[in-house]
Amino acid sequence: MAIEYDPLSVTRRATADDETAVLAVDASVSASDPEGEEVLREAIRAGECLVCERHDRIVGVLVLKARRFYGRDFIEWLFVSPDARRQGVGRALMRAAIESATTPRVFTSTNRSNVAMQALLASEEWSPSGELDGLDEGDPELVYFRSRSGRSS
Ligand SMILES: CC(C)(COP(=O)(O)OP(=O)(O)OC[C@H]1O[C@@H](n2cnc3c(N)ncnc32)[C@H](O)[C@@H]1OP(=O)(O)O)[C@@H](O)C(=O)NCCC(=O)NCCS
Repeated sequence: MAIEYDPLSVTRRATADDETAVLAVDASVSASDPEGEEVLREAIRAGECLVCERHDRIVGVLVLKARRFYGRDFIEWLFVSPDARRQGVGRALMRAAIESATTPRVFTSTNRSNVAMQALLASEEWSPSGELDGLDEGDPELVYFRSRSGRSS
């Protein structure tokens, strides 16, 4: 798979050779998040990690877990390198995830405090699905979904 959305970037499935670069995109993971590291390593092994590459550098990572959420595919991880934000990388990865999904609808979630992610979801016409309390104290998890064929179909 190699899906191109603009001439500068390529979005593709990560391979074992990408592991170091994938872990380096989110500096907090490589510095002190062994659980996050394991999530990313496992996703690469399982073929569930997508990356966006610009000029031969990985600048964004997305993990799409097959049938993880009530039998539906779930985007579990999305991170864009701080110096590559607001350049369409998150959008390209979200679109690639939908294209490679194994279920007709894809779900994801984000904290209510995460204004950037909510703006990205709104701009890509994801629909709100509900709200989960009790995960992060005082910061509910907002769940969203999108159909592969369009917003509400
Ligand atoms: C959320 C995140 C993935 C967005 O990635 P990105 O590559 O910067 O997003 P894009 O450039 O594709 O943005 C597409 C659209 O989303 C919206 N958007 C994205 N970031 C935004 C922000 N900080 N403020 C307002 N709108 C924003 C805009 O509508 C934007 O279009 P525009 O730039 O033409 O106005 C990125 O900020 C990130 O990695 N944050 C830290 C990790 C994180 O929160 N991940 C999500 C966890 S659930």
